[in-house]
Amino acid sequence: MIEGKLSIRAKAIKPSSTLAINKKASELIAAGEKIINLSVGEPDFDTPDFIKDSAVRSIREGFTKYTDSSGIRPLRQAICDKLKNDNGLNYDPDQIVVSCGAKHSLFNIFLAICDAGDEIIIPAPYWVSYPEMVKIAGGIPVICNYQSNFKIAIDHLKSIITNKTKAIILNSPSNPTGIVYSKKELEEIAEIACENKILVISDEVYEKLVYGGTKHISIASLNQEIKQLTIVVNGVSKTYAMTGWRIGYLAAALPVAKAVANIQSQITSNPTSFAQKAALTAISSDQSEAEKMVAEFEKRRNYIIENISPLITCCKPDGAFYILIKIGNMTSAELAQRLLQEEKIATVPGDDFGAQGFVRISFATSMDNIKEVITRVNRFAEKNK
Ligand SMILES: Cc1ncc(COP(=O)(O)O)c(C=O)c1O
Repeated sequence: MIEGKLSIRAKAIKPSSTLAINKKASELIAAGEKIINLSVGEPDFDTPDFIKDSAVRSIREGFTKYTDSSGIRPLRQAICDKLKNDNGLNYDPDQIVVSCGAKHSLFNIFLAICDAGDEIIIPAPYWVSYPEMVKIAGGIPVICNYQSNFKIAIDHLKSIITNKTKAIILNSPSNPTGIVYSKKELEEIAEIACENKILVISDEVYEKLVYGGTKHISIASLNQEIKQLTIVVNGVSKTYAMTGWRIGYLAAALPVAKAVANIQSQITSNPTSFAQKAALTAISSDQSEAEKMVAEFEKRRNYIIENISPLITCCKPDGAFYILIKIGNMTSAELAQRLLQEEKIATVPGDDFGAQGFVRISFATSMDNIKEVITRVNRFAEKNK
């Protein structure tokens, strides 16, 4: 009876599969199983102490009240400075909205741009939350195919743009593939967006996690026309190991930023006051702690690439901390299930990311775990060739 009271919207939404698998793996570990959990989407490092200290200090100083609903001005100014220095982008603090994580920024965007039936193009393989967030906001997720290198199939992209298309999501470096788009590739996507006057939601949360000399470029930095159409999304979760602090932000043309600010002011008011202070410290201080984490991720990624069996199909990640792998002709669900049962490794089935036949492994875990995982997956691939 109570179910009948729920909205059609609530019933249409899938729970986050990555969080569900993480929960299952944690339960098995708690029950004494020796599972290596590779389903997580967060750095295994602790938040650096100087960032924690700044939050503690701000609590002690009484910075515990509501703030400006779009985020404190010094943080928005620091974000503008960061966007200028790192990405060559000029924004004014009024064009920045700080939210409770980049996930929240993205959801605010969909609420701000989607009318019922509006289409949002999501290139596969995609982060699991995009389609569900679009649906909650009343939009329609339209999935764009990928080429063998996991990048956008441009012809398919052109063919699915309609007069209902509001935006395309671009996620470089990508979760779950680790691909990073080059300047030339971004130019091609930008040209299509400009020609068709569609917005680009550029999710850059893995910006700093790039390896082997790969450079992250924000599509918004290519020219003024694409900058106007682009909404840059970023946050502190992945770069500074601050997933639990819940601070993300967007930078956009003023009308978009204002619309998002209005929506946020009615829903959450501000992101947590002292977490904003911590984010300000993280963004505006010396970056060497963050750089150390990147160097560690790179070592792990290199170990995987150098030691994974040639029997396993995978795509070398240039960024983020994930790798998609495929073994034999199993479905994603079967592969994930068997890796869990037979090799005690928790992964995420690729179906949830629009990557059939693959599972996602996160290398945000210790080098010891990674070495053990490679031994196990290689053994599994040998048995199933
Ligand atoms: C591609 C992508 N975008 C956004 C987020 C959300 O990050 P945040 O912790 O800032 O909400 C994630 C988190 O896993 C992600 O993988």
